[in-house]
Amino acid sequence: MDDFLVHLVDVQLYHRKSLTLSEINLSISPGEFVYLIGKTGSGKTTLLRSLYGDIPVNEGEIKVAGFDLRKLTQRKTPYLRRKLGIIFQDFQLLTDRSVKDNLLFVMKATGWKNKQLIDLRIEEVLKMVSLEGKAYKMPHELSGGEQQKVVIARALINDPLVIIADEPTGNLDPDISDEIINLLHNIKKDGVAVIMATHDYRLIEKFPSRIIKVEDNKVAEFN
Ligand SMILES: Nc1ncnc2c1ncn2[C@@H]1O[C@H](COP(=O)(O)OP(=O)(O)OP(=O)(O)O)[C@@H](O)[C@H]1O
Ligand SMILES: [Mg+2]
Repeated sequence: MDDFLVHLVDVQLYHRKSLTLSEINLSISPGEFVYLIGKTGSGKTTLLRSLYGDIPVNEGEIKVAGFDLRKLTQRKTPYLRRKLGIIFQDFQLLTDRSVKDNLLFVMKATGWKNKQLIDLRIEEVLKMVSLEGKAYKMPHELSGGEQQKVVIARALINDPLVIIADEPTGNLDPDISDEIINLLHNIKKDGVAVIMATHDYRLIEKFPSRIIKVEDNKVAEFN
C-alpha cells in the first residue's frame, strides 16, 4: 500500500527484550491528522520513535514516507529523517544561537547551500508560525510558546511528508496550544500526515480528528 504515508502491519516493539507494543496495525494517509492517546507509560513515545527509525523493528512490516524501515540501514536513516518533521515536548533549540542560526543549522546539515534560497525559506517558515521579524532573537528572548513555534518552523523547513509530534503542547498554556494545534491542522491540508501524542483532551475536543489509543500493549482506533 504505497499510498499510505505510515503503514504498519503486525509490528512488535521492544525495549531491550521486553515487549512494549504488540501486533500494531496502523495506516495513515496523506492529509490525515491523528491523535495518539493513552496512559502514561502505555507506549506512545515508543510508537513514535519507531516511525523515525529510533527503535529497531524486526517483525512485521513498517513503511514511513515511502521508506521500508526494515531495510533502512543506519547510513540511510538521514534520508528518512529529511522527509519527517519531528517535534518533542521540550523545545530543543540550541540556546547559544539565534532563531535564524537554529534554522540554518538544520538547513546546512540537510544540504542547503544557496544563501538566497536559505534566507527566503527561513522567512517563509517563520511566517508560517507567525514569528516574522524574530529571526535574530535568541531563544531566551522568546516565550516558551514562541520557542515551540520555532521548533515547528524548524520541523517544516524541508517540507516533510509526515509530522511526528510527541506532546508538542505539553508545557504550554491553552491559547498558545490552540495556536500550535491549529498550525498542525493546517499543515495536513497540504497532504502531509500528522501524528501527535497528547494527554490534552481539551485540544482533542476543540480540534476533533482521528484518534488512536494505546492500551494494554495494543494500538487501536478510538473513534
Ligand atoms: N529507553 C527505554 N528503555 C527501557 N524501557 C523503556 C524505555 N523507554 C520507555 N520504556 C518503557 O516502555 C513503556 C512505554 O513507554 P513510553 O515512553 O512509550 O510511554 P508513553 O505512552 O509515551 O508515556 P508518557 O505519556 O508518560 O509519555 C514504559 O513501560 C516504559 O517504562
Ligand atoms: Mg511519551
